[in-house]
Amino acid sequence: MKIFLTGASGLLGRALFKELNECGRGFEVLGTAFSRTSGSLKQLNLLDSTAVKKMISDFGPDLVIHSAAERRPDVVKADPEKAQKINVDATGTVAEAASACGASILYMSSNYVFDGRNPPYYPDSAVNPLNEYGQMKLTGEHIVLEKCPDAIILRIPIVYGRVEYLGESTVTVIADEISADSPAYFDNRQMRFPTHAGDISNVISGLAGLLDAGEEIKGIYHWSSETSITKFGIAKILAGIMGIDPELIREAAPDPNAAPRPENAKLDTGRIRRLGLGTYRDFEQAIREILMEVSEQSS
Ligand SMILES: NC(=O)c1ccc[n+]([C@@H]2O[C@H](COP(=O)([O-])OP(=O)(O)OC[C@H]3O[C@@H](n4cnc5c(N)ncnc54)[C@H](OP(=O)(O)O)[C@@H]3O)[C@@H](O)[C@H]2O)c1
Repeated sequence: MKIFLTGASGLLGRALFKELNECGRGFEVLGTAFSRTSGSLKQLNLLDSTAVKKMISDFGPDLVIHSAAERRPDVVKADPEKAQKINVDATGTVAEAASACGASILYMSSNYVFDGRNPPYYPDSAVNPLNEYGQMKLTGEHIVLEKCPDAIILRIPIVYGRVEYLGESTVTVIADEISADSPAYFDNRQMRFPTHAGDISNVISGLAGLLDAGEEIKGIYHWSSETSITKFGIAKILAGIMGIDPELIREAAPDPNAAPRPENAKLDTGRIRRLGLGTYRDFEQAIREILMEVSEQSS
């Protein structure tokens, strides 16, 4: 099976590119990046629709996995017109190109399509995004399904994994924000479900394998770890690992300038588990390993 992957330089994309190449399912993978093109990745600006259509049609994939996006809600809120180009317009281009060469498409979406008031959320639960990012991911879902009716949509919550720098993920950035010198303040209301990029990659690779074997894999799927924790809780764990006094971690009042987030957008993962797919690793152990790796890289 030939797989075309966008966003292969990203937090999720790097883990996914590795998994697809190393899983032993015989996938031939073309990974694309934009500003961080390295190794075997090909450079592609997804805003250049002619280049996107040409690269996809020249490769002739059986499956296109569209992972590239602007995924930071506050960045999307600050410049929605710019974010619209990558999150919505480019998604339309990629879906059109996939459809033109008869490829299936798997589109990465988010639990931010839900308002977080009535968890858990099933693939057919009512959507109601609270911020522009969630709205754009939902619009992306609609565009993909319109252009490729057999598309696979995979909604996931907050991702963590091996990072190039601490600020790269919403989880590891917290390690940058806490210090032994002064108190640091974090939200203790919104429940997060940090899910490792490697575990998400295993699910995607499994779905691609089933598709390749002729199984009917289409429609909306959810994957998430069962770890349910606030940013305040994550900060306490990180403080423990980093030898920082946990009393320096304090509860913050809601930030009126931040893009609103759902309080509990827990995803039900039954549809993936019924396919025999999906495992997740222990959060505390995995985050400890990631912090150790970053500290070794910088020493
Ligand atoms: N991270 C999360 O917590 C989270 C949670 C839920 C859903 N998701 C979804 O999961 C997917 C992967 O997220 P991620 O965390 O891997 O994001 P990420 O680390 O921010 O990576 C974004 C990727 O998009 C690429 N990209 C951005 N603009 C581009 C352009 N104009 N042309 C081509 N490529 C471009 C980047 O390429 P360069 O870096 O090379 O420029 C990078 O590979 C996204 O669809 C996101 O919405 C993520």
